Amino acid sequence: MEPKPIHLSPEYADQFRDRAVVEAYARRPPYPKALIRVLRERLADSDGVLLDLGCGLGEISRQLAASFRSITAVDSSEAMLAEARRLSGGDSERIQWLCSPVEEASFVGPFAAVLAAESFHWFDWVSLVPSLIAVVPSRRLLLVEREEVDSPWKPSLLEAILRYSTNREFRPYALVGELEKRGLFIEEGRQVFGPVPFSQSIDDYVESIHSRNGFSRDRMEPADAAAFDERVVRLTRPFGRRGRIDLRIRVTLVWGTLENGCRGPESPSS
Ligand SMILES: C[S@@+](CC[C@H](N)C(=O)[O-])C[C@H]1O[C@@H](n2cnc3c(N)ncnc32)[C@H](O)[C@@H]1O
Repeated sequence: MEPKPIHLSPEYADQFRDRAVVEAYARRPPYPKALIRVLRERLADSDGVLLDLGCGLGEISRQLAASFRSITAVDSSEAMLAEARRLSGGDSERIQWLCSPVEEASFVGPFAAVLAAESFHWFDWVSLVPSLIAVVPSRRLLLVEREEVDSPWKPSLLEAILRYSTNREFRPYALVGELEKRGLFIEEGRQVFGPVPFSQSIDDYVESIHSRNGFSRDRMEPADAAAFDERVVRLTRPFGRRGRIDLRIRVTLVWGTLENGCRGPESPSS
């Protein structure tokens, strides 16, 4: 099977253990309320047991907890989970926070479905998917991705990102396509939310970028971090008012079925 894109390897995922990334993370735009509502509706027929992989600060699990019997929320970053427990709803008895790489976790199923928000790209798909199929009889996987759209400074920001990112191997990729071509997933449908307006101070916007892959302050040279910050301020300021900018956030929910990798186009039997 074709190897995963190299910029999605575990050494890059490791940055989510950094204190600086966890501190910056809450500056990311929130998920829209409509997404939480639709997740509740789509999972209403489940028996109320959900698996949230790469849960981070648990933004989704903490909001869904009241509607589920139990959510197992897994993340390999102890720092992320410590913060998740501290945030609103993080002390819910219905959430079992589990600190482990998802590939090594001993899941106690069965689960009605698996959810992964902005995280599935980090996992070792080939070892993980069969272990998920064993504990999720429905094989139902829900993927959430969030992106900033229509920002007039986006092309210049991309140039700055390519110049300063510590991840020198980044290549554009499409998660669902990568999974499907390996025969690990079949998409059944998707729903797009927004774009939803989100206003933020330029300082918070800059900080939010430091929660992204390749921008951990703990790993950047201080001079590079300062130069990057200055550049982002310079290119967003013309669009700001009183130090704030307006963003438009689009979130995509994709649902479908986990497959065991035998039905990909590369399979001799297909
Ligand atoms: C971009 S964050 C997404 C967090 C959260 N789901 C959200 O939507 O805000 C990716 C998360 O995946 C976690 N992660 C990456 N690789 C992992 C792995 N192999 N096992 C468990 N968690 C992992 C990181 O620690 C990080 O918290």
